[in-house]
Formats: sequence, structure tokens, C-alpha cells
Amino acid sequence: MIKAVRGVHDILPAEAAAWQHVEATARQVLETHGYREIRLPIFERTELFARGIGEVTDIVQKEMYTFEDRAGDSLTLRPEATASLLRAYIEHGLHVQPKPVRLYTMGPMFRYERPQAGRYRQFHQLDVEALGEEHPAVDAELMMMLVELFRALRLADRLQLEVNSIGDAACRPAYRERLAAWLRARAGELCEECRGRIDRNPLRVLDCKNPACRPLLDTAPAIRDALCAPCAEHFARVQRYLDASGLSYVVNPRLVRGLDYYVRTTFELTTTDLGAQNAVAGGGRYDGLIEHLGGPPEAGNGFAIGLERVVLLLGRQQAVEAARPVALLIPLGEAALTRLLPLAEAARSRGVAVDLGYGARRLRAELERANKLGIGHAVIVGDEELTRGEATVRSMTTGQQRGVPLDKLPDELAALRGQP
Ligand code: HAM
Repeated sequence: MIKAVRGVHDILPAEAAAWQHVEATARQVLETHGYREIRLPIFERTELFARGIGEVTDIVQKEMYTFEDRAGDSLTLRPEATASLLRAYIEHGLHVQPKPVRLYTMGPMFRYERPQAGRYRQFHQLDVEALGEEHPAVDAELMMMLVELFRALRLADRLQLEVNSIGDAACRPAYRERLAAWLRARAGELCEECRGRIDRNPLRVLDCKNPACRPLLDTAPAIRDALCAPCAEHFARVQRYLDASGLSYVVNPRLVRGLDYYVRTTFELTTTDLGAQNAVAGGGRYDGLIEHLGGPPEAGNGFAIGLERVVLLLGRQQAVEAARPVALLIPLGEAALTRLLPLAEAARSRGVAVDLGYGARRLRAELERANKLGIGHAVIVGDEELTRGEATVRSMTTGQQRGVPLDKLPDELAALRGQP
């Protein structure tokens, strides 16, 4: 038997209803906030991600699915959506629209990570971007919308919003140097992974999850105290807007994120319910990235939600039921099948879900099938019924039966909707 590749997973019919519920809720919340959908390809030129996400990030160095196509071009399965979305934004001149340009996209992403619960090599994101607006209200509005989406899914009380500012090109380089020097002086007390990062990407050291490193790292110089005046003002305003909205959040000075494009605001939505994979969503501001990718010098801001993690949080108790057929139509024989097929279609075209036997099984077997599928009514049509021009409608719960004229059957089935 050929099995699925390690780290990728099927979304089986039993889970699909929960996915649809999350997606429909997200679309509703996003659209009331003025976001419009954009659909993007799942592979791009490798250089887009190398330039967009940053050469020295884990994603670009270790996690990309990169291959050559038959023409010898280097292509990569997208590890995230921001770089692709900005590529499309620039390529199609979407920046001429009134700002901010609000866009979202959903779909699979690919990262060669070590698979574990909540972490996959193919996973799905809902990615949201607000482009071309520098105002700090955008940062706050995005976070408010993110929390609103989880409120609509009744998950907000299991999540915490963490916020930080990591400065910009004016203040971060000096902080970076100071932090690297501080870490170098204490390298002996840090794990191997941290030591490897001191020179390459010292801010990422702050994010180390190793419990042996944590006490020391908690005493490292915080970027909050090193922000330049404009960055400090921006962060203060973001917090003021969040406070005014009554949103609860914590400032986490170690929230640095794993992608290189962020400036100023970064944020994550975290949970303690998913073990090691505690981030359900993450994002921040990336002013300058659009220009870096060949577009105009514009601001940008956004987040992505890991949809597998949302579905895991929804769990079984809240599992959303798939729509069940209201009735199983059971023709007993070929003539009855020929009569019932168009009646089933007539009901379906009115939005009523029905299931249809094909006349090849005995009545008892069909009734058992209705029970197994949890269908509330059986509609039986044999030769006798055909002569009378009627169907027998049987309640699977009480066993009660009554006759219904065949030409009234679609109306009758519509009326059964919502009844047990
Ligand atoms: P990210 O933090 O790399 O950000 O990913 C966002 C979310 O995707 C994570 O919080 C997590 O829920 C989910 N995720 C990431 N990797 C995996 C995985 N291997 N398996 C399952 N879920 C995963 C970004 O991707 C940025 N592009 C977000 C952004 C948009 N920033 C600005 N705009």
C-alpha cells in the first residue's frame, strides 16, 4: 500500500465540516472588515522567498521544498503566503487602488519541519494583508479583527494575544549589536542552537524554547528600551488603540518571529492547549518589503492563522455536524427508480439534501442503511405505491408511516427539513 508522505495529512470527510465552518466564519468576518480574496499559485521562483523571507531564516535555509523544473528553473513550494501575495500585488499594479488595500488568501503551505502534533510539512494558512498604510491604527485593527474571528469561533477565551515592537532600520542594528555582544559574553551558558544564532540572527536567540536557556535569556537587554523615538511612538499608539478597544493582550519583549521582514509591531495569538505548538496565528508590520520585492515604497502589515491548529482547538466537542440528508428515497425496482430519480433532483434543486437507493437492495437493507447514516425518514416506493401514485413516508424514529402523492413529494421533503 502506498501511504501519504510523512508530515502531510488528509482532511477526511468527518473533519471537513469543521474546516468549512472555520473558512466560512473567516470569510464572513474578513469581508465585513473590507478584505477581498486573492488566489495565488502554490509555487513561485525560489528567489522570491529567499529575498522576501530572508536568506538567514530557518525557513529559507532548512525548510523549503525547492526543485528544478524541466527547463532548469529553480522553483519552490510556498512556505508562506506573504511573499507571493506581494509579488501578485506588485505584478498586477494593485497598489494604484485606494489604501489600505485589504487582501486575504487561504491554502496549503509547505515547510520541511520535524512533524509532530500540530506541526506538518503541508499545512494550511489563512493569510491576511493590509497594504499601503503606515498608520498604527492598522496594526491595532488587524489584531482586533484576528481576535474577533476567534470570538466568532467561540475560541477567544482559550487564546492570548502577545504583542511586541522590534524597531526598524534606524534603531534595530545598534540593538542587534548590543544583544550579540551580551550573548557572546554568555555563550557558554546557552544551548548549541542559540550559540549558532548569535552572529547570524541574535534576535532569534531570544525566542529559544529550551528551558535551560530561558532564565538567562529573560535577563537579556530588551528591545523595548532601545526603540528610536518614532518606533516608540508607533508602539505607544498601537497599545493605546488596543486599550481603547478593551482587548486583552500582553507585551512580550521576546516576541521576535521567525521571518526577517518585520519592522516595529509583531504579534502572535498563542494557546496552552496544543502542547509545544503554541502559536495559532502570527504576524506584524513589514514596511519596506514591498519595495524590497521591486514595488513602490509602501507600508505593509498582516498575519496568518494556522488552520490545522484552529481545527484542533475546535476539537470533537464542538465538531460541526455535516448536513445530513432529510430522507433516504427507496425505490423497490426499476420502474420506481425511474420515477424517483427526477423527484430526488427536484428536491435537491430546492436545496433539500436527500439520498437515493438504486433499487437493487432489499427494503430491510435500505432501512438499515438509513439508520446507520442517521437519516430521519425513509420514502418507500414499490409497485403498489406506483399504481396509487403515492410514496410511503416513514419516520425512522417512530416507525409511523403515511402516504404522500408523488407529485407533492418535493414539497413534503422540503417540509421535513429541520424535523428529527
Ligand atoms: P508564521 O508565524 O510562520 O507566519 O506562520 C503563521 C502560522 O501558521 C503559525 O502561527 C502557525 O499557526 C501556522 N504554522 C506555521 N508553520 C506550521 C506548520 N509546520 N504546521 C502547522 N501550522 C504551521 C507567516 O507565515 C507569515 N507569513 C504571517 C504574516 C502574514 N505576517 C505578515 N503577514
